[in-house]
Amino acid sequence: SVSGPDKSRKKGWSPKTREQVKNVAVCMLDRAYIPYSRFRVGAARECAYGTVFTGCNGENASYPAGICAERNAISHAVAEGHRDFVRIVIAGRGENFCVPCGICRQVMREFCAPDDFKIYLAKSPEDYREFTLEQILPMGFGPENLEVK
Ligand code: THU
Repeated sequence: SVSGPDKSRKKGWSPKTREQVKNVAVCMLDRAYIPYSRFRVGAARECAYGTVFTGCNGENASYPAGICAERNAISHAVAEGHRDFVRIVIAGRGENFCVPCGICRQVMREFCAPDDFKIYLAKSPEDYREFTLEQILPMGFGPENLEVK
């Protein structure tokens, strides 16, 4: 984690914090391990009380063993005992905004209310777009779909 919990902040999203989370995601681009694709992705996932968990993509000589930045950040948070996610920033350096792949959208769906969870796609801290998970994964299959009568 790069910042400790700030219990006084509750679920607020102050401009300062938003800048900080975007900066962290952009910084994570430098940590990407990308010998095969040369395509850098950075992610920063923020929890309800302001704790931020980072991720970058990590590739492997056995290509399918690689992991995306988003899932790396989610696993990082879950391993530290956090599941109360409110938003994720995904940073890329390409011409287009880096959108999360289908597998990462599905993993995001596990831990949030799709209408509330926000996804920021950032080319830089200044140049970004905001979406909800419901917008990019409509009618997603979540834990409640497993409930049987
Ligand atoms: N990648 C991510 O890390 N996140 C995405 O949202 C899309 C793709 C990574 C996987 C691989 O290391 C590289 O980008 C090219 O697909």
